[in-house]
Amino acid sequence: MTDNELLDLAAEAMKNAYAPYSKFCVGAALLCKDGTVFTGCNIENASYGAANCAERTAIFKAVSEGHRDFSAIAIVSSGGGETYPCGICRQVMAEFASNLRVILRNPEGESVSYNFKDMMPYIFSL
Ligand code: THU
Repeated sequence: MTDNELLDLAAEAMKNAYAPYSKFCVGAALLCKDGTVFTGCNIENASYGAANCAERTAIFKAVSEGHRDFSAIAIVSSGGGETYPCGICRQVMAEFASNLRVILRNPEGESVSYNFKDMMPYIFSL
């Protein structure tokens, strides 16, 4: 699975985004170390705080299906520029990210990738 293939799966998942309030659609594709991919989109709610980000949708789908070892997550959005994962999603990633790469693609089709540990060096953990 190449970065671009994973980004394409994220873009496909973004089509299912339910974002009637922000109109900001996000898609994510999470690559497990065994090659399985779980995708997710953001899902908003009339009670705004109940919204779930695309990244957490993908991670929760994976964990609920017994997958905890992840190698990369690709994120795309309908907004301008790259969409960086929010703080809550970073905390959720930190729980499972031993060596996670975060891959982002902007609307111009340019992609960048980061090691998750560089994005969030001092994590909270128990
Ligand atoms: N959102 C995501 O899905 N992922 C992010 O990393 C940032 C924000 C969603 C949440 C909400 O539905 C919309 O984008 C606007 O904040």
